[in-house]
Amino acid sequence: MNIPPRSLRSLPPGGLVSRSGRPFPTDMTTLEVGLADRAYPIRIGKGLLSNAGELLRAKAGQRFVIVTNAIIAAHHLAPLKASLRERGAHVDVVLLPDGEAHKNQKTLDDLLTRMLEARVERATTLVALGGGVVGDIAGFAAAIYQRGIPFVQIPTTLLAQVDSSVGGKTGINHPLGKNLIGAFWQPRAVLIDIATLATLPERELRAGLAEVIKYGAIRDAQFFAWIETNMPALLAKDSAALTHAIHRSCTIKAEIVAADEREAGERALLNFGHTFGHAIEAAQGYGEWLHGEAVAAGMVCAARLSERVCGLDASETNRLVKLIAAAGLPTAPPPINAERWVELMRRDKKVERGAMRFVVLDRLGHASVLDDVPVSDVTASIAS
Ligand SMILES: NC(=O)c1ccc[n+]([C@@H]2O[C@H](COP(=O)([O-])OP(=O)(O)OC[C@H]3O[C@@H](n4cnc5c(N)ncnc54)[C@H](O)[C@@H]3O)[C@@H](O)[C@H]2O)c1
Ligand SMILES: [Zn+2]
Repeated sequence: MNIPPRSLRSLPPGGLVSRSGRPFPTDMTTLEVGLADRAYPIRIGKGLLSNAGELLRAKAGQRFVIVTNAIIAAHHLAPLKASLRERGAHVDVVLLPDGEAHKNQKTLDDLLTRMLEARVERATTLVALGGGVVGDIAGFAAAIYQRGIPFVQIPTTLLAQVDSSVGGKTGINHPLGKNLIGAFWQPRAVLIDIATLATLPERELRAGLAEVIKYGAIRDAQFFAWIETNMPALLAKDSAALTHAIHRSCTIKAEIVAADEREAGERALLNFGHTFGHAIEAAQGYGEWLHGEAVAAGMVCAARLSERVCGLDASETNRLVKLIAAAGLPTAPPPINAERWVELMRRDKKVERGAMRFVVLDRLGHASVLDDVPVSDVTASIAS
């Protein structure tokens, strides 16, 4: 895996002082997603919402449309809006209905209609303030509204902060499958304010930890071991622990996206546990199991499959199971019969030419993609 050293830079906060004279949070760190002319910063820190105007270089008269939902707005909208308005920007807000069940064509249509009615022009920046649902819908709206307008991600769930806000995948669900309608559309910036996690329900925090564990499992054994040691601190929302976990996760995601934006190769590794996970989500009905919960059980299935098809040591599977359990996440899928599993997984978009394609681990910290995995091995690994 050759990552050009310049594709990812850790930029120092550099003693930045805002125009209003207020210093930026000193603990803010910045990563860069190295995508040439579409490169963008990921800023991580506490209290970034109230500095958003400066961080996004908002100008007098510039228009922003903040897309969020009522729950998130109640907790986190005010400082963001105030910070943009302080710089003379014009701010509109659109509230979406909450939940995965609303990540669909109807919600997208309503959002586009609201934008057209408000006469949003192409110079307007769409700001997604929320979890993966808000980010995916708002990002897709930005991709297709008048053939594309700028957008910014301000993720407020752990899952969105470590995963969905970075990398430019946007979209909605279709009754026939999850995330089947969408576009690649990179944000101009990602602002991760870890203070927003203070209001995040515990179940959502745990779900986000599934993706954090995933990064360790596929790419970084040392990080995996760090998560094992620091799970109690992460569950207690310790700022330093969360910041490290988010920083390391975003670094890995940014590296992979910079190397393979369109998922021609390496980016597929991020789907570890997801073929099983998507099947669980579809079988249970979207929103019944949280995405992270389904991915957690899916990673256990994928590890057992890895034992069969590429010799993953059983002791490593056990470490993964223990860590997932320590995060309070499910370590086994719900009861689904074998035929249904196969049918659901064949529906997944990661099936190519009828063959089952899986991300497997040959050891913790090292994943690869395997084509032509026999269905019998897949069903056997679920049964175990
Ligand atoms: N685009 C990608 O690359 C990508 C990657 C992974 C997941 N996803 C998508 O992300 C979605 C899941 O995202 P999610 O887990 O963030 O779920 P979510 O967006 O549904 O948010 C979870 C819940 O938490 C609430 N919430 C959000 N922030 C809060 C806060 N700070 N305080 C209190 N409540 C808050 C939300 O209103 C919601 O009820 C799925 O649709 C999944 O497909 C996309
Ligand atoms: Zn995921």
